[in-house]
Amino acid sequence: MGLAAKIARTVAAGPPGLLASFPQLKAPMTLNPQAPARSAPVPAAPAGSPARPVVRFDTVRENPRIKTLVRHSDECLAHIGYTEHGERHVALVAHIAMNVLKRLGHAERDVELAGIAGYMHDIGNGVNREGHAQIGAVMAMQLLIEMGMPDAEMAKVIAAIGNHHEIDGDPVNVVAAAVMLADKSDVHRTRVRNPDFIKFDIHDRVNYAVEKSFLNVDESQKSITLELTTDSAISQVMEYFEIFMTRMLACRKAAMFLGCTFGLSVNGNRLT
Ligand SMILES: [Fe+2]
Ligand SMILES: [Fe+2]
Repeated sequence: MGLAAKIARTVAAGPPGLLASFPQLKAPMTLNPQAPARSAPVPAAPAGSPARPVVRFDTVRENPRIKTLVRHSDECLAHIGYTEHGERHVALVAHIAMNVLKRLGHAERDVELAGIAGYMHDIGNGVNREGHAQIGAVMAMQLLIEMGMPDAEMAKVIAAIGNHHEIDGDPVNVVAAAVMLADKSDVHRTRVRNPDFIKFDIHDRVNYAVEKSFLNVDESQKSITLELTTDSAISQVMEYFEIFMTRMLACRKAAMFLGCTFGLSVNGNRLT
């Protein structure tokens, strides 16, 4: 008989007081004796209990923890020289994303989820710029679960956040497509933080040159156009293409997912 079997036999056959001295031998061990065993099923909500509250866009926007994360992310990016990614940027992305889906006749709840994803899409920058989309998705998952969002909705939102970056993102659902379009279309001089024109890099120049940007959704033509009014004395159109080509390709991919064509119009000249 092996040693383990001998010990088990001794414990089982030992004096009555022996097991009482080691209660953990009688029941599965958990880190917290009060906690249910891991395999225990989640108890169903009692019949007649109130339905879970719907997590609204306004609830997310006014959540103090999310507000702090948005602010913190922007502060981190300011330290490493990025353009503005704070409250102005994420609120604008949220509204543009909602507008895109609303204009194209998508379900009201998807419109709202696009707003939520748009508002939370850049919180991962508060951890690291590299991989910020995926980091932010995991952060959002925890926050939205805490707020009571159903899993199916939460899954849609985190897929949108994790795919918003043009380098490694794809429009995996309609919410993701709308957030991608909205994020890439926020190019404007108010995003430039560097007050010294002499020290402008290409990103500063291109953003600063844009006096007006508007994402035009034409539901009847099934077309989405990013309309820019730029000051060519500050940045040449070629500079715009140098840094925005990847972003524009991402926009085209997102528009196609929504069944639309994508075009860019610079100072009235349309490029498709
Ligand atoms: Fe981002
Ligand atoms: Fe962004």
